[in-house]
Amino acid sequence: MCGIFGYKGLKNNAGHIVIEGLRRLDYRGYDSWGIGFVSKNSLIIKKEVGKIGDISNSQYLPNSHTAIAHTRWATTGAVTRINAHPHISTDKTFLLAQNGIVENYQELKAGLEKKAYSFISETDTEVIVRLIEDALKTQKNYIKAIRFIYSKLIGRNTIILLRKNGEIYAARNGSPLVIGINTKTKEIFLSSDTLSFSPYVNKMIVVENNQIVRICNKNKIKIFNMKNGKISQYKLEDMTIKVSQVNKAGYRHYMIKEINETPQAIKQIINQDKNKIIELSSALKSADHVYIIGSGTAGFASAQIAFYLRLFGNINVISLVGADARSYYDIFNHNDLIIAPSQSGETADVIEVLEFAKKKGVKIASIVNMPGSMMTRMSDYPFMSSAGPEICVMSTKIFTSQIAWGYLVAKTVQGRYKKGVKNLEKLTIAIRTYLINKNNHKIIKNIAKTLIRKSHIFLLGKYQNLSIINEGMVKIIEATYKHAHALPAGDLKHYAITLMEKGILVIIVISDDIVKNDLITAINEIRLRGAEIIAIAHKNQSIFDYYIPTKDTKETDAISNIIPLQLLAYYMAIKLGNNIDKPRNIAKSVTVK
Ligand code: G6P
Repeated sequence: MCGIFGYKGLKNNAGHIVIEGLRRLDYRGYDSWGIGFVSKNSLIIKKEVGKIGDISNSQYLPNSHTAIAHTRWATTGAVTRINAHPHISTDKTFLLAQNGIVENYQELKAGLEKKAYSFISETDTEVIVRLIEDALKTQKNYIKAIRFIYSKLIGRNTIILLRKNGEIYAARNGSPLVIGINTKTKEIFLSSDTLSFSPYVNKMIVVENNQIVRICNKNKIKIFNMKNGKISQYKLEDMTIKVSQVNKAGYRHYMIKEINETPQAIKQIINQDKNKIIELSSALKSADHVYIIGSGTAGFASAQIAFYLRLFGNINVISLVGADARSYYDIFNHNDLIIAPSQSGETADVIEVLEFAKKKGVKIASIVNMPGSMMTRMSDYPFMSSAGPEICVMSTKIFTSQIAWGYLVAKTVQGRYKKGVKNLEKLTIAIRTYLINKNNHKIIKNIAKTLIRKSHIFLLGKYQNLSIINEGMVKIIEATYKHAHALPAGDLKHYAITLMEKGILVIIVISDDIVKNDLITAINEIRLRGAEIIAIAHKNQSIFDYYIPTKDTKETDAISNIIPLQLLAYYMAIKLGNNIDKPRNIAKSVTVK
């Protein structure tokens, strides 16, 4: 899964413009990158292994008005310079980059090899290039050739293609594609997300699935329907996000900046349109079944939202992980409702389930942070987190804002919208106060120092804190590359207790709720066997070996408890010297299955 970017305009530094675009897209993959541009009537490629951030701004690039670019998260073919995109046609008349996976590429490649086509890389993307070359022999133009080859591809594939004559083509199937336009300068941008071109444009077009874009040399945009080849009408939307929001604002890392932006993100939830929340809460009450689906961090946000809907809304809600919802496919019916929390709104595992469910008439609600996303467009009840860009690959403020939204929706179902808002207002203040208290950071930093010496870290919680410790586990794994294991406190005695011994550290999150005593029992069982406890709780107790204070925010306590866990992961990563904003091997937005 990767990011693609393209530029066509009057400025002659297209190479630098697309490199700048890639810098904003590298959360989508940072194994390698490449750019391709037209200069003096020939196509030039520059590609490297490593992060785009490693290239200097002053690097010489020949003048060009048109360029495409790609940042890679390797799926097919090792991380090498040769496998980096773009890939070029045999006759050097076009270049192409892909975001996606051609699932049947081996079969297609074998067919092309029989026709004497040869390959330089190991990628499925080069197979697309050769397919287009082959199709151009029988099809009259690029639109026809692209339509033709898409009928052969299996998978979710979005491509961008640059011709030697300066025309750009792009096609969307699954992975995202948006167009940005500066109506004054007539510059046109193509990208995997809106954020990457936000500083340069005032209008945008969201390309739909099964559409092909052609940007000709007069900078005119035409969009075609991939199925019938006819021209599709498109809507120019205003581009509202501005780039000034995307910098570290004096913080050392985006992660800590974004944790500090949590109160603001929750405020945006409080400011959501009340009528829309009421409308969704009525739909939830009348649905036959309610499912909440997300992947990774959003999967744990889903579980927490489901918890709130069960607890306050009295609705029998099931939460599912995007990659493992298959067994529900036959159960979905047209009176069901699915909620999808997602930062990007483009996660392939989730979209696949939503597409299937939508065909069965299931209604969809989503809470997404990235404007113009696929999930928003698929939704009957679309909500925007409006939390501002989240750049760190590890999600923090968006997770917190999603569960705050779930809490408010659940309180609305309960008929207590106003109380929900009030509690979230108090929570905002509590989190802000917590974050500015230097002593909290000092305590957490000291504990981080102890924790980084461990190879295995356990997290225990229960009831309202179960998904919180699961998300704490995700943060620790992503930030430290260490093994962390979260489990319900009561389940400890059934298996994980065999691992409790001297030298083991267990993080336990305790709220003052009906399960508090169960947690105390688990602590005693752990300590009896020589392991030690790091407690995140409202009051210190003699049975805690280490103590991280949290403020009691009552009903919203679980939401505030994620903050010390996020900080713990952050300070551990600092002490380990890890790449905090871009942990190894993961990407922020996973648009492949
Ligand atoms: C990736 C990211 C996670 C994120 C998940 C779902 O795995 O690394 O942080 O939670 O995708 O992304 P979404 O955009 O749907 O929230």
